[in-house]
Amino acid sequence: MSKRDKTPAAEFVSVTTVDELKPGERMVVELGRHWVAIFNVDGTYYAIDDVCTHDDGPLADGELRGCVIECPRHGATFDIRTGKVLTPPALMDVQSYDVQIQGVAIQVKARSG
Ligand code: FES
Repeated sequence: MSKRDKTPAAEFVSVTTVDELKPGERMVVELGRHWVAIFNVDGTYYAIDDVCTHDDGPLADGELRGCVIECPRHGATFDIRTGKVLTPPALMDVQSYDVQIQGVAIQVKARSG
């Protein structure tokens, strides 16, 4: 008899500006109840949750090689383009976000599914 809450469709939300996130840089922003790590890889922006699915490590503090981030706590790796987990000890993907540029604003939106 329980009904799942229907979450309204996510909207793009401005979180920072292109001036604040130059190529090679990353930052963490608060989006609702989530900490989101945003990366600028050679002018392309990617966003994932800043919380490792293994044991909550801060992913934005990890080493980034190409589009692969390594969790600084126990070394799990994730593809920042998709949030897919690549190596253990994490077993689950992290939430990823669509990113768009509106003027100078960097906007993110949670991906469904
Ligand atoms: S918290 Fe990220 S690998 Fe353990």
